[in-house]
Amino acid sequence: MSTRTIVVTVSDEFADVVTDRMWQWGVQAVSETGTGTGTGTGTGMVEVATSVGSDDDAIDRAVATLDPQWSVEIREVDDAVAQVAPEYLSPTWYAPGMVSVPESLLPFTPDDPDTVVTVIDPGSAFGLGDHPTTRTSMALLAHLLRHEPTSADRLLDVGCGTGALAVLAAQLGVPTIRAIDIADAAVTATRHNMELNDVVGRIEVDTTPVADVDGTYDIVMANILAPVLVSMAADLKRVLRPGGSLVISGILTDRHDHVLAALRPLAPVRSLEHDGWISIVLH
Ligand SMILES: C[S@@+](CC[C@H](N)C(=O)[O-])C[C@H]1O[C@@H](n2cnc3c(N)ncnc32)[C@H](O)[C@@H]1O
Repeated sequence: MSTRTIVVTVSDEFADVVTDRMWQWGVQAVSETGTGTGTGTGTGMVEVATSVGSDDDAIDRAVATLDPQWSVEIREVDDAVAQVAPEYLSPTWYAPGMVSVPESLLPFTPDDPDTVVTVIDPGSAFGLGDHPTTRTSMALLAHLLRHEPTSADRLLDVGCGTGALAVLAAQLGVPTIRAIDIADAAVTATRHNMELNDVVGRIEVDTTPVADVDGTYDIVMANILAPVLVSMAADLKRVLRPGGSLVISGILTDRHDHVLAALRPLAPVRSLEHDGWISIVLH
């Protein structure tokens, strides 16, 4: 088996621009490697690489967002090489009694049998549940479901990735859950993680754009990067029922005022930071 990698070769002065663009695809990792040509900033060439999975449409959509002047190549990488080495993985305790665990670490038996264990296999989608944006979103979601007196019958997860947030919502008893993502790999990964966590049939998951989602939800989760949150702000407000909770993530602690401005009149009521990232609940 192999994974397809998008490799962009640019002068090193453009490396940050390319890296930013790739993070906006919601990917799990971006690598930057010097090609050994040139010396000093502005003279060397770098290869910036990531994967959005092996689906042709997902790759085409991602490549279409790149500057046509950049050199782009699709490479096949052996899965054995692409996988994260298990010795670098660990369970993520994101709240008391709540942990996300990469599937490759199974069997996992917590000391306390009441622990909420969310098992995640990333497949080709974003996230093992350990990223700062995911763990703080999970913690805020758990708090909302356990401690807020508002009803939480309907939840929408926009940009579900591996489905970590939607799966947790199912584990904590939300009756109606919808998960959407632009990447087909995310739909596949979320379905697999529903099986791993014994919540099959509890989450409706597909690639419907948020603009086409009808109805309103008590809780809307959106762990996507800032530019995407801004571009979909009107739809995020439309699908949130009056008095509901929107949880945004994928934004930097030091630079997110423009996202909050786009989401007004919703206002922040709680937030959680980790490693320079912040997740915020808005009402
Ligand atoms: C940072 S990941 C979050 C994944 C997961 N919700 C989590 O918390 O681990 C962002 C996800 O948003 C998806 N995404 C990016 N732009 C999107 C859009 N316009 N509509 C829906 N999903 C989008 C990406 O494919 C990616 O899976």
